[in-house]
Amino acid sequence: MRTLFLLLVIVFASCKNDRKISEVKKPKLGVVVDSAMVVSARAEASRIGLNIMKEKGGNAFDAMIATEFALAVVFPYAGNLGGGGFMVYRTQYGEVGALDYREKAPMAATKDMYLDDNGNFISNKSKTGSLAVGVPGTVAGMFAVHERHGSLPMEEIIAPVIKLAAEGYYLTAAQAKRYNKYAPIFEEVNDSKSIYSNEWKENDLFVNTALAETFKRIAVNGRQEFYQGKTADILVNFLSSKKGIITKKDLSNYEAVWREPVIFNYKDLKIISMAPPSSGGICLAQILNAVEEFPIAAYGHNQPRSMQVIIEASRRAYADRSHFLGDPDFVEIPVDSLISPNYLKGRMQEFSFDQATTSTAISNGTPFGQESTETTHYSIVDSFGNAIAATTTLNAAFGSKVYSNELGFFFNNEMDDFSAKPGEPNMFGLIGGEANAIEPQKRMLSSMTPTIVEKNGEFWMSVGSPGGSQIITSVMQTILNVYEYDMTMQDAVNAPRFHHQWLPDEVMVENYGFDEDVLKTLTSKGYQINYNDAPVIGKVDAILRKPNGSLEGGADHRGDDTAVGF
Ligand code: GLY
Repeated sequence: MRTLFLLLVIVFASCKNDRKISEVKKPKLGVVVDSAMVVSARAEASRIGLNIMKEKGGNAFDAMIATEFALAVVFPYAGNLGGGGFMVYRTQYGEVGALDYREKAPMAATKDMYLDDNGNFISNKSKTGSLAVGVPGTVAGMFAVHERHGSLPMEEIIAPVIKLAAEGYYLTAAQAKRYNKYAPIFEEVNDSKSIYSNEWKENDLFVNTALAETFKRIAVNGRQEFYQGKTADILVNFLSSKKGIITKKDLSNYEAVWREPVIFNYKDLKIISMAPPSSGGICLAQILNAVEEFPIAAYGHNQPRSMQVIIEASRRAYADRSHFLGDPDFVEIPVDSLISPNYLKGRMQEFSFDQATTSTAISNGTPFGQESTETTHYSIVDSFGNAIAATTTLNAAFGSKVYSNELGFFFNNEMDDFSAKPGEPNMFGLIGGEANAIEPQKRMLSSMTPTIVEKNGEFWMSVGSPGGSQIITSVMQTILNVYEYDMTMQDAVNAPRFHHQWLPDEVMVENYGFDEDVLKTLTSKGYQINYNDAPVIGKVDAILRKPNGSLEGGADHRGDDTAVGF
């Protein structure tokens, strides 16, 4: 008994130590290069994107298409043809823009499609299986990028992706483990075996012939192959056979949309981020604008006061997200009012360092003139000076788990990002309102936050993250880590993160790198600390332009992420 007690004391003490900040470390520098860089979730995808620039002379937009498609091959966990995403760019001439290639609800979708006869939310229905699938936007997005900004022929850009799928890639240990973990779920959902059904181990070669064939057809026939051609036929027949509701008309109607990005200042930084239907840019602007009022550098990194300010600003931003935000093609969003410093100053008025605000005491504000875990982000800079931040997703890990053996890819479960029933949390615990209710052809609200930052009128940082609702707070902390706490890009993405999203009223913290005394202080002020449910908060990939013009990559140590450049 005594031995058991001693053992428990030792285990407890070592757990506590896990959350202790380690001694002052030497800054860790990421990969540093002179001209061009790609940082993505997988080395193969980063290299394919880089070679498009280095060997073929393409620009960052060509590299984006190659990287996005390569992620569909080598990172099917989130990379996709069956999903969608957002991209923010800044050209070498300083022009900025944003592309929305988010999925849409099918035309046959209805507001109550995930409710039973008694009006109860059947949560699994919006998450797993073909009814969870939104109309995919990725292929339309890549062709829209190509049409407006591409410089190389599409066939040339897609060629290395076809080779990658046909000749295969070597699995990392994490990837082999993940495929094996999910294989029984894929079989159950699809009622059939697939290439994922084998027992995989590290360094096994993974070939996806069906996906190579799909890419070959897209390379030859272009965008219409996916939305009207043979691929469209296979896709619709396949999903229909599984009681899905996406039709050929849904596919042929799909368009990617160029949007005005959300632009705001944080001190002397100009931040360019994603507009609705992502909540990313607005929430980021709300949080940073509120934080700007406080000397958080003096408070210290991940110290009680700096954490309190960020937590309280986040609480208020996510409350507004829940009420105001949805697809701008369907709902009026008071963007300017929501991010105006005057409005945000008022939102923080009740905040006191003495005691946590409770989320029940916070609802959406009243802005003046009223008339936001599985995704992947990559950042690219080319030698011409173009910069890209792109985040793409299937929503959950492997999306709906629906996999077409004939097409070689998974389908998203993005329908869960709608508010299926007011007051019911989605898979990220987000509570949505009427603005994000399901309607045919509507885009579901996102948290994706691809972001470009300028300093002194020049490109400074490209940044983004996966992580559902945690994307926004991950991006925000990464920017602050570099700007306020002078971290290198690599240290900034590696630094332990925390997250608050209004509801549930708790502060999620990663289970390492936080000082136990800091967490105790926050607890004493009424903050509910949860370090059990977020082993990982975000997985940031970013590029920072250093004062001497070189580029530093920040490839998140939480994954297999890789920065390459020249
Ligand atoms: N599917 C996660 C997001 O868009 O926020």
